[in-house]
Amino acid sequence: MLAKAGEPIHPRPRILRNEHAASCPQGVPVDLDDGLWLKAVRDAQDVGRLAAFNASVNQDSAVGVLTRWWLGGTHPTVTLPDFLYVEDTKRNEIVSTLGLMIQTWAYEGVPLQVGQVELVGTHPDYRGRGLIRAQMEVIERMLEARGCVLSCIEGIPYFYRQFGYEYAIPLGSCANLSLNQVPAVAEGQKEPVTVRRMKVDTDLQTVMALYDAQAAELCVVPVRNEALWRYQGSAPPGIPEPPETYVVEDDTGVMGYFRVRKNMWEPWLEFMETSVRPGGHVWGSQDALLVVLRFAKGLAKERKYAKLCFALPKSHPLVMVANDLGAESERQYAWQVHIADHADFLRRIAPALERRLAHSLLTGFSGSLGINTMPRLIRLQFEQGRLVSVAQVDDSREQVVLRMPPLLLTQLVLGYRSCQEIIDCHLDARVHPRARQLVDILFPKTESFIYQAI
Ligand SMILES: CC(C)(COP(=O)(O)OP(=O)(O)OC[C@H]1O[C@@H](n2cnc3c(N)ncnc32)[C@H](O)[C@@H]1OP(=O)(O)O)[C@@H](O)C(=O)NCCC(=O)NCCS
Repeated sequence: MLAKAGEPIHPRPRILRNEHAASCPQGVPVDLDDGLWLKAVRDAQDVGRLAAFNASVNQDSAVGVLTRWWLGGTHPTVTLPDFLYVEDTKRNEIVSTLGLMIQTWAYEGVPLQVGQVELVGTHPDYRGRGLIRAQMEVIERMLEARGCVLSCIEGIPYFYRQFGYEYAIPLGSCANLSLNQVPAVAEGQKEPVTVRRMKVDTDLQTVMALYDAQAAELCVVPVRNEALWRYQGSAPPGIPEPPETYVVEDDTGVMGYFRVRKNMWEPWLEFMETSVRPGGHVWGSQDALLVVLRFAKGLAKERKYAKLCFALPKSHPLVMVANDLGAESERQYAWQVHIADHADFLRRIAPALERRLAHSLLTGFSGSLGINTMPRLIRLQFEQGRLVSVAQVDDSREQVVLRMPPLLLTQLVLGYRSCQEIIDCHLDARVHPRARQLVDILFPKTESFIYQAI
């Protein structure tokens, strides 16, 4: 809800809106022995304790501010019991926690419910005792109850593999550019566009349309509705690396926007999302994008940052312009993604699979594809280009044509790696030559990006 004139922008709700809206996850509280109890957040007092714990375990008061904001009752999807904690009842202290933020992503236009695991931490004295493992088990049930086909985390390396997560969607910066690599405007030349801060009241609808236009070019991308946009605009001071949104205007009005923030690790200004489309063109124009870079250079200089960096898809037009200016490529990190049930996932993305077939040499295909996920077999049956069934059988002795262990299948179906790239690196993956064409059509390498909706 927008604040009326004269009202504080972040009024503290007297009653937490979500306090009574959702019930405790099934099976919670859990007795973990030795006075340790796994619980779900219930009320404002719990939120305060959790915020203090998160600030302390992350050694960053900003994480405490973030916790209060997310759980303050105004987030469009977060409810209090989505956040779990373990309490040492002998000391009446929180000693471990994690939470789930439900969101919607689109897979080539097909909406999917996704749970993002967030704010994971255990007090140093309690680490290695299975407290995160116990909470992840509850999260699995919560994901199922909320109809989430995917869950994701941008977490520390390796740790989440043991819970079935695999790197599968690009995350973070792919390139960086020194400020002196951004050229000044040529003498006597007028900039073709201007830049100013976004005003939610007047610019939001246009900016939302610009976001949707850029999202439509990617395979997997978050769906951001107006409630989420407005929520993001309500970020309190003091959260970690707060984003700033700017709009780009030409004679016709607003035709672009971009979001920047300080990079989490380096004193660099990071582009988080950018959609600049003079005349509605997908690729924008080099001149307009150079104005954006010059504007960002000005911001970075004011803040004494050394570089600009680009947390964007590698093929993004702004990244291309930066590359032409000599940007340094970075190894892009990735979201770790868990697909609990690949057969269910394939069923849900059927419209995208059918579209890929329809636009291929195998248009109107009838036949089946067997995927051995070891030990389970998933059989996709197509009739005249329609996916009529996805069956899961436990007997993998049936002849199959694609062998792909579950974590690798996650990479394949999300288009993170091509079948060939996976096979080249993993001897346990294999495709029969007669299925190669079909597999490459159904599961091409594509570009996805999860623009972070704080
Ligand atoms: C990473 C962290 C959350 C793990 O918490 P924890 O309560 O010790 O985790 P658990 O005891 O439930 O660990 C589960 C398993 O992972 C193993 N493990 C623990 N830390 C690990 C790590 N950093 N890397 C790989 N494995 C790890 C444990 O040995 C355990 O294995 P087991 O079940 O086979 O015995 C904790 O070390 C921490 O808070 N670190 C600082 C903050 C942080 O990095 N948070 C994560 C942000 S994404």
